[in-house]
Amino acid sequence: MLKLNVVILAAGAGKRMHSSLPKVLHMLAGRPLLTHVINTARKLSPNKICVVIGHGGETIRQTIIGDDLTWVIQEQQLGTGHALMQALSQLSDDGLTLILYGDVPLVSVQTLRQLLVVADGKNCAVLSTVIENPFGYGRIVRDIETGAVTAIVEQKDASAGQQDIHEINTGIMLLPNVYLHEWLPTIKNENTQHEYYLTDIIEMAVKNGVYVASSQAESFWEVIGVNNKLQLAELARHFQKYCANKLLDEGVSLIDPLRIDIRGELICGSDVEIDINCIFEGTVKLGNHVQVGAHCILRNVTVAAGSIIHPYSMVEDAEIGENCKIGPYARIRPGTRLASEVQIGNFVEVKNSQIGVGSKTNHLSYIGDSCVGKNVNIGAGTITCNYDGANKHTTIIEDDVFIGSDTQLVAPVKISKGSTIGAGTTITKETPANQLTLSRSKQVSIVGWRRPSKIKK
Ligand code: UD1
Ligand code: CA
Repeated sequence: MLKLNVVILAAGAGKRMHSSLPKVLHMLAGRPLLTHVINTARKLSPNKICVVIGHGGETIRQTIIGDDLTWVIQEQQLGTGHALMQALSQLSDDGLTLILYGDVPLVSVQTLRQLLVVADGKNCAVLSTVIENPFGYGRIVRDIETGAVTAIVEQKDASAGQQDIHEINTGIMLLPNVYLHEWLPTIKNENTQHEYYLTDIIEMAVKNGVYVASSQAESFWEVIGVNNKLQLAELARHFQKYCANKLLDEGVSLIDPLRIDIRGELICGSDVEIDINCIFEGTVKLGNHVQVGAHCILRNVTVAAGSIIHPYSMVEDAEIGENCKIGPYARIRPGTRLASEVQIGNFVEVKNSQIGVGSKTNHLSYIGDSCVGKNVNIGAGTITCNYDGANKHTTIIEDDVFIGSDTQLVAPVKISKGSTIGAGTTITKETPANQLTLSRSKQVSIVGWRRPSKIKK
């Protein structure tokens, strides 16, 4: 089996981001730029992944976790060749090394596999692309007769003729380790920028009769680097459009593919419908015929078949059963599990609670740390008082309970099967099954009482 090493160049402060955060930690689609690159690298099952970091390195190491990562420090940024040199002792004697950039987050695994194919275990291989405005990039110089790559010339070192070349170096390349060990230490910084250019390796390869293969990315945005917030925002939109098109292709109905944000993984059954401006974070699974209304936020959620999430609802770390109706304006917090046919209405907050089949809480309530049975109706404004100022306590509501509006259930407490609670009640003790329980002061009327009137000056 061919040994594959990956080196991700991620040193450099990213000054043009105007941020205290290292550039490669800026987020795209819910993940740091560097995480995208690492995840893609992992899909190639390499023997080793080295990440070269410089400025802000500690923050990067604390943020990006992975036992499979080898961190390499480049104290001073003296060029891409110098950066790779810092990782040289980590690279195996044979096999190939893939160079990726921490600020080029969206290169696809298919594109990299294609590069591996053309490298054929022994060639150098560069990933290039043709762009309208090549200014600032290294140009791919080819032999006029054979078309073979002969060099990469940086913008600042390019002749007028070379500046007209529109085929550019994306920076991503595959290099045989034997040559890296031999040639990399000999690279010099005798160029306009006084940097150690990794791209000088290409000319060395040609001189030594090593073939330099090339391939191109499937989509142009795969090889776009992020240097400022505008580029980051534009790249994020390209990626979201790609995700939306993929969902449409799989049969998901998106009311407007330009107004959806997927910051993780969205897995959909058949006939799923998603209205505008929804955000999906972490892993979200939507079963067949699920509908998500406009402006919803779903984070690490499973929604079973036939359920409807009405607009402006937020659901987080929860499981929603079949044929539930949620919202509008519902907030479902972590640890919530709803059985089937449950209804959670507007301005209802549910936290760390289980709710049984067919139960309803439709208006203005807080249900926290509760276990609610089947076929329960919880009236408007009902509150579980789960917190005594120091500890959280549990509320148990058994099957077939009916709770009148504006009731407080002071936990720990149990509402037994079939209980009815009168409106406006404060419950502090377990209620008996199948009885009406209420706490309410007697209603009085004052004869002859008058409303105060405004005093005239
Ligand atoms: C590099 C390529 C150029 C290519 C372009 C694509 C070289 C000499 N040039 O140019 O051919 O068209 O990328 O975007 O390789 N880095 C380090 N340490 C350093 C220098 C850079 O880790 O000392 C990292 C940066 O964080 C960045 C990447 O390497 O992720 C590229 O560096 P950058 O300085 O942007 O290279 P360019 O001059 O753009
Ligand atoms: Ca660059």
